Amino acid sequence: MGSVLRGDVGLELGQRVARALRAALDVDITAEQALIRPSNRDGADYQCNVAMSLAKKVGRNPREVATLIVEHLDAQDAVEAAEIAGPGFINLKLRREWLETQTANLLRDDRLGVPETEEPRRIAIDYSSPNVAKEMHVGHLRSTIIGDAFCRLLSFAGHEVIPHNHLGDWGTPFGMLIEHLTDEGHGADHEISDLNAFYQQARQKFDNEPGFADRARRRVVLLQGGDEATLALWHELVGESQRHFNQVYELLGIGLSAQDNYGESFYNPYLADTITELQQKGLIETSDGALCVFPPGFTNREGDRLPLIVRKSDGGYGYATTDFATVRYWVRERKVDDLIYVVGTPQAQHFQMIFATSKQAGWLDDAHTAVHTGFGTILGSDGKTIRTRAGGTIKLIDLLTEAVENSYQVMPESSDVEGAEKEELARTLGLGAVKYADLSNDREKDYVFTWEKMLAKTGDTSVYIQYANARILSIGRKVGREAPQDAPLVLREQAERDLALKLLQLPTAIQAAIDELAPHKLTTYLFETATAFSTFYNDCPVATAETRELQDSRLHLLTLTSRVLTLGLSLLGIGAPERL
Ligand code: ARG
Repeated sequence: MGSVLRGDVGLELGQRVARALRAALDVDITAEQALIRPSNRDGADYQCNVAMSLAKKVGRNPREVATLIVEHLDAQDAVEAAEIAGPGFINLKLRREWLETQTANLLRDDRLGVPETEEPRRIAIDYSSPNVAKEMHVGHLRSTIIGDAFCRLLSFAGHEVIPHNHLGDWGTPFGMLIEHLTDEGHGADHEISDLNAFYQQARQKFDNEPGFADRARRRVVLLQGGDEATLALWHELVGESQRHFNQVYELLGIGLSAQDNYGESFYNPYLADTITELQQKGLIETSDGALCVFPPGFTNREGDRLPLIVRKSDGGYGYATTDFATVRYWVRERKVDDLIYVVGTPQAQHFQMIFATSKQAGWLDDAHTAVHTGFGTILGSDGKTIRTRAGGTIKLIDLLTEAVENSYQVMPESSDVEGAEKEELARTLGLGAVKYADLSNDREKDYVFTWEKMLAKTGDTSVYIQYANARILSIGRKVGREAPQDAPLVLREQAERDLALKLLQLPTAIQAAIDELAPHKLTTYLFETATAFSTFYNDCPVATAETRELQDSRLHLLTLTSRVLTLGLSLLGIGAPERL
């Protein structure tokens, strides 16, 4: 997903350094390669570290390179001082006036300095993807939250995003489920309203009741053969599950609906053709009566090649077959450029193997990429996979309901919010906290789920950021007026300057979150911005500012901070209440 976002102060400085290098040493680098990083060392605002990385290449020592950059830097308007430190760091202190202009420009910019991509891509994102006739569990929570954040971030950047829900809605378990449904007398849907229990009963019968397993197998054949009565029962199961999924999506404020369903069943008509194509390309081998592919580069410890089975010896198709059909469908029929799969890390090897063979088949190439963005497990406070007190798997709907209930604890007692508004607020706080706790952790890592931590009013939580934003808006209400658009912005106090510098770094934070598909890059930034606001709030009175000019300027800073926090949270699927 080539990075093409541009537009903050660091990049502007990067461009100037790149120009200096061209003039001084005739080397070409991009603005990003200038390695400009925020820094508050020795009174600087930014540090440039390119001299160290370039020294070898140009055959000079780093301090020499740094000196040449400083000598050729055409940045009098922007940079007040450029000082070389240590082995060749360049500390850059910005001119106040320049910073004021840059910050004021944000006031007139709907996108707060974040440009749209110049190379929009069409991107299909596979996320959530729960299994029919099974209740969604916390494992699906991460996929749903992370996938939703990807959709929002990439759309905001100007890409065309196509979300799709790869429901587990096909295959052998459905024989068993449908037989059980016929036995129980469908229509009375109270049994399937507890999908987990329904599934377990069916499983129980499959293992113990004489004749049931055979009936179940015959059902699978009927289902795959398109038998009408069987399909009607299957639809009933899928429909009931969909109602459960929708409940969760609605509560979470996730845009997925039945329209986005591309379950395993959807690809059924494509499976035979997919296999034929793999065969024609010479990629299929027969092994013990099964048709297999052997993706290049995958072996076990003994050095034997690892297969993916695309057709079992009994003629049945499996999970991998569907995933080949999926890649082929989205690239060929839907003409997407990129595929993103938000699925737990245990499936990493499966996807690497699918992608390797898809490249051989020509479905993926330099212009059509696929990435698997895995994620770790949610742990309980005992460091093991989170469970209920009784030791069972936690149902997602229970967990989310608890989140909303718990959020009443963090509402201020003095709050004059009541009734439906209060309930809405509880949802925004509680579900925001669950999402933020998830997204603020490095995606690949496991994390421990603790209510106290995720609902804390201080620290790296959504609640802290939401409070900061609500405070800003309440200051505005207290002052009772807005600053005129053209009122000048002045950054005399250190806290004003630090806050402005943070506001100007939004594009970099969003870019990093997109480039690395790492939402925590954005949460970290939002937390730092809320912290910079807190310092500002302590040091710089607004309602009682000494002059009207100063008040105008500070109102501008508050407006921008609120806009940055609100936008940032919204890109993570988290609301920002106006009052708390
Ligand atoms: N239904 C699967 C599960 O719950 C996830 C499907 C992921 N997507 C895919 N294309 N395989 O584990």
